[in-house]
Amino acid sequence: MDCEYALHMLAGETIKGRLKPIRLAEMNQQREVGRSAGKGLALYVHIPFCEQVCSFCAFHRTTASPEKIEGYIGPFSKHLDTVLPQVGRGKITSVYFGGGTSGLLTLGQADQLLANVRQNVETNGARITFELHPKNATENHVLGLLALGVSRLSLGVQNLSDQERQGLDRNITSAQQEVQILQNLNQIGVPYNIDLMFGTPNQTQQSLENTLIRVVEEVNPPEITLFQYVNAYGARSRNLINQGVMRRPGLHERHQMYDMARNYLVTCGYNQTGTYGFSREKDAPQRKLMNNGVDFMGLGPRVYSRIGNIFAMNNARVGDFLSGQGKTENYYGLRVPVKAETFIGKTLVFLAERRTNTTTKSKLNTWRSEGITQVYSVMYYLLNQPSLSK
Ligand SMILES: C[S@@+](CC[C@H](N)C(=O)[O-])C[C@H]1O[C@@H](n2cnc3c(N)ncnc32)[C@H](O)[C@@H]1O
Ligand code: SF4
Repeated sequence: MDCEYALHMLAGETIKGRLKPIRLAEMNQQREVGRSAGKGLALYVHIPFCEQVCSFCAFHRTTASPEKIEGYIGPFSKHLDTVLPQVGRGKITSVYFGGGTSGLLTLGQADQLLANVRQNVETNGARITFELHPKNATENHVLGLLALGVSRLSLGVQNLSDQERQGLDRNITSAQQEVQILQNLNQIGVPYNIDLMFGTPNQTQQSLENTLIRVVEEVNPPEITLFQYVNAYGARSRNLINQGVMRRPGLHERHQMYDMARNYLVTCGYNQTGTYGFSREKDAPQRKLMNNGVDFMGLGPRVYSRIGNIFAMNNARVGDFLSGQGKTENYYGLRVPVKAETFIGKTLVFLAERRTNTTTKSKLNTWRSEGITQVYSVMYYLLNQPSLSK
C-alpha cells in the first residue's frame, strides 16, 4: 500500500462520523475568535461547468450548455447575496473564480457575479483571479475580463504531450494551440498562472521533462503550479488504472518526477513559493500550507471552506442550484482540534523520515502538505456519500 492510501485511511478513520451540520453563524463567530482572526478572508467562487470532463478530475462539475450556465446564474447570485453578508466582513484578500471553468461565463455573466461579490464585501485591493480552460482564453475574452477588474488568470494546461492529453480526455485543444494561446497572453501582458500535473496516467519522466522544457523555452509563464496527480475517488482515470488500461507511475517514479521538475524550474530561475508553486517574481509571496493562515470561504456547490479551525463543505450539488428549489446553504464539516492537526503533522514527519531517511525541512514540508491534501480529499469523499447527499 502506498503512503497516499495509508493517509486516506488514517485521516478517514479519524474523521469518519464526525461531520456535523455547521451553521454560517458558527463560521462567522470563528472569524472573530479563531486563530486566523484579523488576517482577512479569501473567497472562492465555484462555476461548476466544463465543455468536456477530463478523466483525472473529480472536482464537482458537469458538462455545460449555455442554457444550463444561464440557469445557474440566478440561484447562484442569490447564494452569494445570502452567504457573503453573513461571513464576509472585513478585509478580502483575494477572490478566485474557479471551477469547472469560469471561462465559460459570458462577460455579462462574469460582470453580474462580480457585482454580487462587490456589493456584499469590500474587495478594494483584493487580487481577482479567473480560472480558464486555455480554449476560452481568446484575446477578446481576456481583454473583456481585464476591463471588468480581473487582475490575474489561471489556466489548466496539465501537459504538452498530445498522446497523453488524449488519455486524459484533455484533447479539445492541442499542445501546439495551447502554446500559441499562452504566447498571446504574454503579448497582452496579463499576469497568469498555468497548472501542470505530474504523476498522471501513462506519464514518464521523459515526457514530463519534454513538457517542462517546452513550457519554459516557448512560453516562460509568470507562474506555474505543479500538481501531483491525485488518484481521486470518482475519477474515470482511477477506474482505468484499476482495470490496467492505464499505468500510474509508481511512488518512487513520482518522487523522481517531482525532484526533477522542481530542480529544473529552479535552475531556470523560478522561485519556489510552496510545495507546488513556482513564480518568476523575485519576491513572490510564499504559498504556505492552509492558505497562509488566511481564512477562506467557498461559495457554490460542494466547495470547501476553512474558517479558524472549522473545515466545512457546502453539501448542495449543482442540481440544487439549477432547480432553483434545492437547499443551497447546507454546510457539513468538523472542527479540527489543534491537537489533531499536530498529531497528523507528527505522523507525517514520522512517515517522511522513514521513507526519505532525512529530516530536511523542505522534504518534511512536502509531506505535510500532501497530508493536508489527503484530509481534503477524504472529506470530499465522505461528503459525497449518499447518506449525506440528500
Ligand atoms: C478545477 S481545475 C480548473 C482548471 C480548468 N478547468 C482547466 O482544466 O483548464 C484546477 C486544476 O486542478 C488540477 N487537478 C484536477 N484534477 C486533479 C487531480 N486528480 N490531481 C491533481 N490535480 C488535479 C488540474 O491541474 C487543474 O488545472
Ligand atoms: S480539469 Fe478543468 S476542464 Fe477538466 S474536468 Fe476538471 S475542471 Fe473541468
